[in-house]
Amino acid sequence: MSTFSTRLIRWQRQHGRNSLPWQTRDPYRVWLSEIMLQQTQVATVLDYYPRFLAAFPTVQALAAASQDQVLSLWAGLGYYSRARNLHAAAQQIVQQHSGAFPPTRAELETLKGVGRSTAAAIAAFAYHQREAILDGNVKRVLCRVFAQDGDPANKAFERQLWALAESLLPSQPGDMPAYTQGLMDLGATLCTRSKPRCTECPMQSLCQAHAQNRTAELPRKKSP
Ligand code: ADE
Repeated sequence: MSTFSTRLIRWQRQHGRNSLPWQTRDPYRVWLSEIMLQQTQVATVLDYYPRFLAAFPTVQALAAASQDQVLSLWAGLGYYSRARNLHAAAQQIVQQHSGAFPPTRAELETLKGVGRSTAAAIAAFAYHQREAILDGNVKRVLCRVFAQDGDPANKAFERQLWALAESLLPSQPGDMPAYTQGLMDLGATLCTRSKPRCTECPMQSLCQAHAQNRTAELPRKKSP
């Protein structure tokens, strides 16, 4: 029986999203897209991303801009702390790293606005590093496939999900972009919160929530 990562990679290459403008190995372009995509839908980001890149084609150009210039190109995307952090992180890269993106997840995490999962996504896409992501969509996929029914507010459960995510990584570094994009695509397009499309899912025969008829109750909701 094929494994989680094998199925995911094959599915991503055939059915996933493969013509997005940020699917490159340029860490600046990947970072910019991941920050925009943190709280904004792909369709909206597709509208803003090219204009932002045209105005600031390099991290040096972004670092040298005024905060007003950055905020005016961000206008409409919302969550403006992302734009202020983006500008500050560009200045960190120029001042502390001579304008070159740091090539490890640990160093990427020191940038303003970059948490563990975003740092891992940049490391996977730009540097093919074997780093696990764990955002809301990915948590939903893992909680269902592996019938994880812990309390989402529990720190120990969160650590357990990170350990699970790390245990599933493909062995070949060159597979990291398709694998990482596959997790995002599966969570966004098939393994949705309310009406998962299990009949189209590459994980259906592996999925413990599906076998147990528990897709509606997993992942557990945060208690109010
Ligand atoms: N959401 C966060 N990162 C993404 C990416 N690289 N592609 C599509 N959706 C995303």
